[in-house]
Amino acid sequence: MSRIHEALKKAEQDRANQGGAAQPGPGPTPVEDGPGLAETLGAGGAASVGMPAFSGSSGMDMLLARSAKVEWKPDFATMLFLNDDDGGRGTEEFRTLRSRLYHVRESMPLKKLLVTSALPKEGKSFTASNLAQVMVRQHGRRALLIDADLRAPRLHQMLGTTSDPGLSDYLQGKNEEFSIMQRGPLENLFFIPSGSGVADPAELVANGRFKLLLQRVEPLFDWIIIDSPPAVPVSDASVLAKECDGVLMVVRSNSTPFDMARKAREQFPDQALVGVVLNGTHEGAVPYSRYYYEAYQKKGTTTKA
Ligand SMILES: Nc1ncnc2c1ncn2[C@@H]1O[C@H](COP(=O)(O)OP(=O)(O)O)[C@@H](O)[C@H]1O
Ligand SMILES: [Mg+2]
Repeated sequence: MSRIHEALKKAEQDRANQGGAAQPGPGPTPVEDGPGLAETLGAGGAASVGMPAFSGSSGMDMLLARSAKVEWKPDFATMLFLNDDDGGRGTEEFRTLRSRLYHVRESMPLKKLLVTSALPKEGKSFTASNLAQVMVRQHGRRALLIDADLRAPRLHQMLGTTSDPGLSDYLQGKNEEFSIMQRGPLENLFFIPSGSGVADPAELVANGRFKLLLQRVEPLFDWIIIDSPPAVPVSDASVLAKECDGVLMVVRSNSTPFDMARKAREQFPDQALVGVVLNGTHEGAVPYSRYYYEAYQKKGTTTKA
């Protein structure tokens, strides 16, 4: 039985024991996917761990000149790195998640990361946005956050900014890549919101322009974090995942039904799944969380948690 399977069973048991009463905490717990991750790590490939692709000023100059500087009014309660308290509750878990991802990146190319989950309201947008923020907290790292949930876009609300022009406008050929890109208060964090509402999100994400967008902006960033719709009810996430290097699956503690998480997982090939985030664990779950932190480590290596 894989560790994620065990984790989900444990979460289900907890829920049963507590009558579903556990309150979600502010931090995610990155957990390992057992055999899937081991296979991924074994797959090897060129690691691009260190410097940004554009180490000179040219990439940044272009981004500064062509993206829009927008005043964001973030929700400080959930945007953990946009207030002045970098040591707040939940921030350490995101640092741990960051270090796990760099660890995975030592063994495979990993820049374009899709964040998804089985169902709505499990913390995809929360995880994607805080992950992008913690990435740029490291000196010189540049990240692009994309709201690719064209059905229920939330990132612009969390960041307190406008939703268009954005991805849907680009996918329809109305805008070019820099005109949909914003930057807010964090140097090195760029954001593409979902864009104007559309009637046909599934067709739009599959029309080939998403791939083009990623190809064009990829050299400018160290990380591209893509927030997606839930994987079980609609096909968008698996379509988007084909253009990404890896998928990070969010599972909400005491909430995501085991069968749904398994169904979501089946939407992606094993190699694509680089990790699982157990979101909303209550504080008493720490020893259990540690177990999975450790499980993330590659054999014969040690990683600081
Ligand atoms: N660990 C967490 N701590 C506090 N609030 C959270 C946490 N995870 C999610 N939320 C909140 O729960 C709501 C649903 O999360 P969201 O990320 O929008 O879910 P999804 O993108 O999967 O639909 C949002 O208001 C979000 O801020
Ligand atoms: Mg969302």
